[in-house]
Amino acid sequence: MNLIFLGPPGAGKGTMASLAKDFYNIPHISTGDLFRAAISNETALGKQVKAILAAGDLVPDEVTIAMVQERLLEGDTDRGYILDGFPRTIGQAESLDKFADIDHAVNFNIPREMIVKRLTGRRVAKRSGKLYHIIYNPPKVEGVCDVTGEPLIQREDDKEEAILNRLDVYDEQTAPLIAYYRKQGKLVDIDSSLSTDEVFKQLLRSLA
Ligand code: AP5
Repeated sequence: MNLIFLGPPGAGKGTMASLAKDFYNIPHISTGDLFRAAISNETALGKQVKAILAAGDLVPDEVTIAMVQERLLEGDTDRGYILDGFPRTIGQAESLDKFADIDHAVNFNIPREMIVKRLTGRRVAKRSGKLYHIIYNPPKVEGVCDVTGEPLIQREDDKEEAILNRLDVYDEQTAPLIAYYRKQGKLVDIDSSLSTDEVFKQLLRSLA
């Protein structure tokens, strides 16, 4: 099953993708994670995109499309994959249609007022990749990953100014994808304002 996870920043795409990848046994391919890994590893791509991510702007289409195309050739996608955060522009979606066959585009809906709360409280563990929230999903010991014991960090773009820019960018460039995939008959709407368990159950029911 080839899936796209669509939705505004903080809608819970990454949280659901990390549960769904284990359930369906398919890889979770997050363009945001790929860019952040490149930044951490100080690659040429990382240097190119560092300031763009910090500001909450979009990486140019040609760079992003090439990265995803290359990732899909890695040989672990026979059973399918979850694309989390890609496509994010109509140009990316049109390109994707040329090199992939998407089954469903899952659209995670969440009221605007919940987004800032979710993002400002998000904490991440770089090594384990685990996501936490200081209120909704706290670690057992404050500030420390349950799995690796590493210190949790706040993403550079989870500061309020960058969040507001990311929301504007989403409205202008990504929201039009909802109509794009609805027209293709592939859109699956999910209410992402509920608890993690409830959202996941809804997701599994919608894809059954
Ligand atoms: P990316 O990493 O994709 O960020 P995003 O789309 O803004 O999404 P987020 O990761 O912020 O949120 P999410 O929906 O995954 O929510 P999460 O599950 O973490 O992209 C980052 C940047 O990379 C972009 O700004 C851009 O610069 C660049 N980029 C990436 N893709 C690109 C592309 N295609 N083209 C160009 N540029 C690109 O949840 C958030 C918090 O809420 C967590 O703390 C979580 O624990 C909590 N939470 C989740 N679900 C629930 C729930 N049901 N109840 C309570 N709490 C919950």
